[in-house]
Formats: sequence, C-alpha cells, structure tokens
Amino acid sequence: MKTTKTAIITGASNGIGKAIAIRLAQENFRIIIADIDKKNGEALAAEIGVSSQFYECDICSEKSVKNLFTYIKEQYGKLDVLVNNAGIIRDNVIWKMPVEDFDKVVEINLKGTWLMCKNAAVIMRESGSGRIVNISSRAWLGNKGQSNYAASKAGIIGLTRVLALELGGSGVFVNAIAPGLIDTPLTQKLPQDVQAKLIEAQPTKKMGKPEDIAQAVAFLCDEKTQFITGQTIYVDGGKSIGAGI
Ligand SMILES: NC(=O)c1ccc[n+]([C@@H]2O[C@H](COP(=O)([O-])OP(=O)(O)OC[C@H]3O[C@@H](n4cnc5c(N)ncnc54)[C@H](O)[C@@H]3O)[C@@H](O)[C@H]2O)c1
Repeated sequence: MKTTKTAIITGASNGIGKAIAIRLAQENFRIIIADIDKKNGEALAAEIGVSSQFYECDICSEKSVKNLFTYIKEQYGKLDVLVNNAGIIRDNVIWKMPVEDFDKVVEINLKGTWLMCKNAAVIMRESGSGRIVNISSRAWLGNKGQSNYAASKAGIIGLTRVLALELGGSGVFVNAIAPGLIDTPLTQKLPQDVQAKLIEAQPTKKMGKPEDIAQAVAFLCDEKTQFITGQTIYVDGGKSIGAGI
C-alpha cells in the first residue's frame, strides 16, 4: 500500500520508540526517527527501509526542533502524527538529588515534549488534522526516587489535556500513554534485584514489551479512532490499580 502519511517519533533510535517506529511503518506511515542517537537511528532507518529516515534532533534545542519542522514542511507539506517518546531518568531520593538532575530530566521529558508540541500545533492547525501521542509514565502517580521524573511525566499529562482543549477544534487529537514497567535499555540498566522487586509488584508478574506500547500508539493514530482526546491510557499490566501492593 502507498505511504502517504508522515509520523515523527522522538527517541525512536532505541527501546519503546523503536517499536513504535516499526509498528507505524507497518501501518503505512512514513517514519521520521528524531533522536540524538545517530548510530542506532540510522540502523533502524535501514532496517525499516525506504518509508523511514533518521533526522538528528535534540528535542531540548529550539533550533534543532525548528529545523526538523522546516524540513517536514518543505518535504511533505504536513505532519500527520507526532509521538513524543524521548525521555530519560536520573533517579535518587530528593535529599540526595543534584539540582542538575532535576533540570535535565524536566528539560528533556517536559520542555522537549512541549517544544515538539508547539511546532506540531502550527503545522497541524494549518492542515486541520493531526494526532499527537505523548509518552508519559505510570510513575507520574508516584514512585520513590523519581521526584524529577514523576513531576516531568505529570507535566506531560497536564500538557496533553490543555492541548486537547486548544487543538480539538482544529481536528487535532492529543492523548497520552502511561507505560508501566517495560523491558527496554532504560530498565535493563536497573540492578537485577530492583528489576525482580518491580516484577513481583506487577499484577501480571511480568514486564511489558515495547510492542505493547506500540499497539496503543497505533490505536490512537488509527483513522478509525475518532472522538478520543485529552486522555491518558495506562499500558502497565494493571500496576496503576494500586490494590494489593
Ligand atoms: N521503559 C520503561 O519501563 C518505561 C516506563 C514508563 C515510561 N517510559 C517512557 O518511555 C519513553 C521511552 O523509554 P525507553 O525505555 O524506550 O528509553 P530508552 O532509553 O531505551 O530510549 C530513549 C531514547 O530517547 C533518546 N533521547 C534522549 N534524549 C534525547 C533528546 N534530547 N532528543 C532526542 N532524543 C533523545 C535516546 O537517544 C533514546 O533513543 C521515555 O519517555 C520513558 O520515560 C518508559
């Protein structure tokens, strides 16, 4: 089938973003892998094939984000989907957390997402359509050692709700996904005993896969999915229910 729609996925060189890129390519989107990791991003673009390309973009830099959107406008005229997936963790209890670790996490996770949304709003309003999916985290509900991360991910949910109000009349739907524990390079960096404890606390007693998040993104970006905006979908194996933990 002919690829006609364009999707930008931030942080798509690895982990969850990579699975989203592969899945949306299967749904016939032209994929723009927007990441600072050139090596893995270019490898993924080669793996997906002609309907995909890597674009080096630091989502914290206004200039870098502007360059990306100028390129999209010139090449394709419009943008159909933006998935704000890039994010980092710098965990510590608040009394030991350096201010730099608060700033860095909020800068990438929240300001970067905001900058991407700001630019997407302009181009999507012009075409009168679009989908934005923001990857938050179940951790926004609260996780010890993640005061910076939880605050940034809670911010993403507030941002999503405001943009749903501001852009709904222009045919642009904005939703968030709150993943739980997902098996990616990010969680593989956690010590084995911490991973085991986290899995034990899961109602499903297992981690999710990046493809589980990609499935929810594909649903929100499907043309048949109408009338859903401003929502947060938990893809967390039931962890957000909270009972019995
Ligand atoms: N893995 C989990 O269990 C989990 C759970 C909840 C939420 N999340 C969220 O899902 C998203 C993806 O997580 P992941 O586990 O795949 O992480 P990951 O570390 O595997 O991948 C993150 C990607 O973001 C890119 N990135 C980092 N800073 C960037 C920047 N300034 N500009 C552009 N790209 C940048 C990295 O290069 C990398 O490719 C993150 O927002 C994360 O907070 C993950």
